[in-house]
Amino acid sequence: ASPRHLISIANLSSAELSSLVSRAISHKRAIKANVYPPKCGLGLAGKAVPLIFSKRSTRTRISSEAAVNYLGGHPMFLGKDDIQLGVNETLYDSARVISSMTSCIIARVGPHSDILGLAESSSVPIINALCDTYHPLQAITDIMTIKENFGETKGLKLAWVGDANNVLHDLAIACAKSGIDVSAATPKEYPVSPIIIQQIKEAAALSGSTLELTTDPLIAVKNADIVVTDTWISMGEESQKALKMKQFAGYQITNEMMQSGGAKPDWKFMHCLPRHPEEVSDEVFYSNRSLVFPEAENRLYAAIAALEGFVVNKGQLL
Ligand code: CP
Ligand code: NVA
Repeated sequence: ASPRHLISIANLSSAELSSLVSRAISHKRAIKANVYPPKCGLGLAGKAVPLIFSKRSTRTRISSEAAVNYLGGHPMFLGKDDIQLGVNETLYDSARVISSMTSCIIARVGPHSDILGLAESSSVPIINALCDTYHPLQAITDIMTIKENFGETKGLKLAWVGDANNVLHDLAIACAKSGIDVSAATPKEYPVSPIIIQQIKEAAALSGSTLELTTDPLIAVKNADIVVTDTWISMGEESQKALKMKQFAGYQITNEMMQSGGAKPDWKFMHCLPRHPEEVSDEVFYSNRSLVFPEAENRLYAAIAALEGFVVNKGQLL
């Protein structure tokens, strides 16, 4: 049987997502209390886990390497100039060979089709470490961060003000699976794609949460508990920078935007990082409303939970 992969939050039930989040929180507690080896055991002892990254990374690389190490395995970072993937060898051949020697592949790629190609040909689980359509490890982390800060997720409202990108996609699906209402403001040139809207709506129908899409940041932030954004220029879009900077005029998150839009008094700010000043003011980014640094740290615990669930427990998440 082919292994279970972590490709998008859309592939998880809401109970499975919630269980990954709870596991991540309990790993955090154990690590803070210096408990080692982990109670879940060293499930990756003697195993190698390659990280095949065709794009840069700080958080995903460090959290993934540290998580593999925490579970007793050996992480192997392979950047785009290190291996033959997609350059001198087909995805199919590479996936078969790499998976024959390892217990999981953590992959950061460009097109979503590359993640699907790896998943189709790999005999071990593929963990999507970001593609142009999804970023599931970030979304697990973000629900964890929200849960830590608000206690519960159900009934909260999350506003997104920014690009309709990979981070928004999995985050909005994850919110819908967690009972969080989502309102996303994206410029008219960048509407959320119909496939993603359908995935969010399917999850929202099950949890009873809502989805609102607008081009007006002030509408999105109304009554919001949390406001989230990401860079306007994702990796690979560098040539569109001048154009996008114009199209996103008025999208910088500021205290003034949150106040005039009528966000909740205790609103919080989140961002997956790396951050650029154009999408959020320093005043918000470095304020005590900002959860960005605990959010970044939580990537480690989410990565441990994902490896435990998908690799050690073979996709049995409940
Ligand atoms: N948030 C995130 O994925 O950061 P990196 O690109 O640094 O891994
Ligand atoms: N949307 C960004 C996220 C980086 C973590 C990108 O794809 O570059």
